[in-house]
Amino acid sequence: MDFYNRLNYSLGNEDWSVEEQALRITSGNKILCVTASGDRPLHLLLSDCESVFSIDMNPIQNYLLELKIAALSLLDYEEYLAFLGCTESAHRIGTFTKIKSHLSSKAKIYWENHKKMIMKGIIYQGRVEKLTHFGAKFIYFVRRKEINTLLSFDDPKKQREYVSLKWDTKWWRKFFDIFLNPLLMKIILNDPGVISFLDPSIKPGQYIYQRMLKYLQHYPAKKSALIQLVLTGKVLEDAYFPYLTFSGYTKIRSNIHKLTFQTGNIIEYIHQIEPNQFDCFSMSDIASYMPQHDFEKLLQGIVHSANSSARFCIRKFMSNHAVPDAISPYFDRDSQLEQHLENEESNFVYRFMVGKIKK
Ligand SMILES: C[S@@+](CC[C@H](N)C(=O)[O-])C[C@H]1O[C@@H](n2cnc3c(N)ncnc32)[C@H](O)[C@@H]1O
Repeated sequence: MDFYNRLNYSLGNEDWSVEEQALRITSGNKILCVTASGDRPLHLLLSDCESVFSIDMNPIQNYLLELKIAALSLLDYEEYLAFLGCTESAHRIGTFTKIKSHLSSKAKIYWENHKKMIMKGIIYQGRVEKLTHFGAKFIYFVRRKEINTLLSFDDPKKQREYVSLKWDTKWWRKFFDIFLNPLLMKIILNDPGVISFLDPSIKPGQYIYQRMLKYLQHYPAKKSALIQLVLTGKVLEDAYFPYLTFSGYTKIRSNIHKLTFQTGNIIEYIHQIEPNQFDCFSMSDIASYMPQHDFEKLLQGIVHSANSSARFCIRKFMSNHAVPDAISPYFDRDSQLEQHLENEESNFVYRFMVGKIKK
């Protein structure tokens, strides 16, 4: 099945607190972002922005955003968590029937044809989440005791000792090398963001393992949704994203009218619109999904559609596109903030391009 014709992401893996520090959103700001799991556009509504416009080339990601918006707008908090799959429920289809009239006809038809995903709890039905869930079953079976111990720490110092004495073992490192081998990932995941535009110097297993290890030196494992997902297949309350917390649900619900979205190629969109439209660009790791020349077009489009001093946050997963000399003067990067965010991001796989547009 074509990557842009299936549900790839149902749970985000990017910290809102990190995005917030990068974008420094103020009231009246107009924001452009990528939809993916929908978590990003929802989290941007935690700010005092004027508007959020979200784009994704994959219509199904926007159908998921529609479903999350309907659930958040129409259900009380407990029913909302149960419908999404955070808590147990045998009534998700009944709930879907109750909210489906608020979906676009295309989204309604899609979810009518994929009721099984709704029944199981939509936030774990993305291809990435299903694969991590499957992998976690094996990992938890093999390392249950160690995983429960690792997820029990509140004190990073005690966790650090445990990681060096018990957690970080030769076979565990080897496991990452084997399981994240590019050939195997091409067969089982087939996600362009992971395999197509990889920096040749990056070995995925080592890259992800070393970054996880670095994170575990300073922050509790239980606070990382990505670590919880990889090790247990679920995200538990300690690592709930803000839109899954009561305070987040309440604030986002009050701002939901500020969010609009569209299916399309973001590069074409930002070149087509009038100049000086946006104050913030929340681009996720979209660079991982394109070759160098499209990355350059993305940067040119950001400069074209940005207001002067607009803020940008571009994440780098395992790609490493260069910013050409002709374009770099427009991107006033904050390398100190980039390093700080790279260390703080609990979904530890990203490097950052952060700063403001100079034009
Ligand atoms: C940026 S990542 C998102 C994954 C991310 N880590 C998260 O937490 O949600 C991938 C998303 O970008 C979308 N995408 C990739 N290239 C695109 C493009 N040129 N225009 C619009 N959307 C694009 C993909 O369809 C996918 O949903």
